[in-house]
Amino acid sequence: MSNNVETDSWGTILVTGGGGFLGSHIVEAFAAMPKVHQVIMTGRNRKKSRKYIPKVKFELCDITDFDKTKEILARFQPKVIIHTISPGPFATKEIQLEVNYAATKHLLEAAKQDAGVQAFIYTSSIEACSSALGHISSPLREDEARVNNLKSKDYWYCRTKGAADTLVREANSPKPNGAKDWGDYLLTVCLRTPGLYGPRDSTIVPAMLAMVNTAGARMQYGPDTTVHEWLYIENAVLAHVLATRKLLGDPHGVCGEAFFITDGTPMKFHQFTRAIFKEAGDRNMNSQNPKFIVIPFWLLFPLLAVWEWVYRIATLCRKWPYVSRQNFLYIRKGIRISIEKSRERLGYEPKVTTEEGICRTVAWFKRNGAKKLN
Ligand SMILES: NC(=O)c1ccc[n+]([C@@H]2O[C@H](COP(=O)([O-])OP(=O)(O)OC[C@H]3O[C@@H](n4cnc5c(N)ncnc54)[C@H](OP(=O)(O)O)[C@@H]3O)[C@@H](O)[C@H]2O)c1
Repeated sequence: MSNNVETDSWGTILVTGGGGFLGSHIVEAFAAMPKVHQVIMTGRNRKKSRKYIPKVKFELCDITDFDKTKEILARFQPKVIIHTISPGPFATKEIQLEVNYAATKHLLEAAKQDAGVQAFIYTSSIEACSSALGHISSPLREDEARVNNLKSKDYWYCRTKGAADTLVREANSPKPNGAKDWGDYLLTVCLRTPGLYGPRDSTIVPAMLAMVNTAGARMQYGPDTTVHEWLYIENAVLAHVLATRKLLGDPHGVCGEAFFITDGTPMKFHQFTRAIFKEAGDRNMNSQNPKFIVIPFWLLFPLLAVWEWVYRIATLCRKWPYVSRQNFLYIRKGIRISIEKSRERLGYEPKVTTEEGICRTVAWFKRNGAKKLN
């Protein structure tokens, strides 16, 4: 295998969930690279294939349809799979198990059997690591993190992301010299990301923008003493490109590994949200003396527990509420993450600071008509 990765072709890249927030940015970035021959994006909704992008093809495929997934691999023969698909954190246990765990397991097996697939990059999450939340005394390193499994005492999103993260790392098996093709071999990497934000975000930022100039923007949950990690979408894409470059070029020290990826500058939760409110023109945040309503956690958590039970009973336990203790646990505990391993081994350096990322994100939503921006 040549190490001259700048001239070697990267062939076809398959991006699962290519119509999603992260997936769509990854698709655009790879499609713009001359060394990429074509990008196949899979998804369940053809409308999410968005605009025409040269070299990009959309394939309708539910990732739980194993036959269809195998057929796509056989037809397009990708060299690299970037697996971004996940249900949202509040999807049911059954969906988390089916999509995050079983479908990832199957995709890995199919990729490994395939003679052409060389690299598999999994978009994991810092929530794959149960010990990550609340680790704020020093930045948590990958070798200190305890990865969740299906039996962990955590939400099903966190358990299944952790279990899939482990599956991906364990599937790593470098091709020995003399092997005729990549059948039975695969190079894998997990990229563990915190909350993503940026243009086309459909969760974090729109929820905050909906609060601009309402009482919601004045709420403060708890004392706001802990810090959190964030990841601007361009930095997330960069990490996926760098991991691909390493796996196709010089995988030593990278394959079979997990990497934390963040903006590199942890921020208090409300520092982040208030920067968004301010940038979006919230009058309170732009006043001389902004006022806040502090809701202590000792009051909030029992109220949320009651709300969760009411919601669960009303939906016959088929759904999980979007506002629950799960969100506020994250806010309460905080998190600090080290990206030194990513810097050293992937050559990752965040391109965009969180401050700049917030400005670019709000500017994008202003241009693209977020409902509550005024
Ligand atoms: N966003 C964050 O803050 C964050 C934080 C940490 C980690 N991550 C990880 O980053 C990755 C991407 O997240 P994102 O924010 O870009 O999510 P997203 O916008 O919801 O995209 C996820 C994609 O997965 C697709 N999908 C879900 N179930 C599927 C299925 N059964 N078959 C085929 N496609 C399916 C969705 O398609 P539909 O539109 O058809 O549902 C969607 O296009 C995920 O792995 C997530 O765990 C995200």
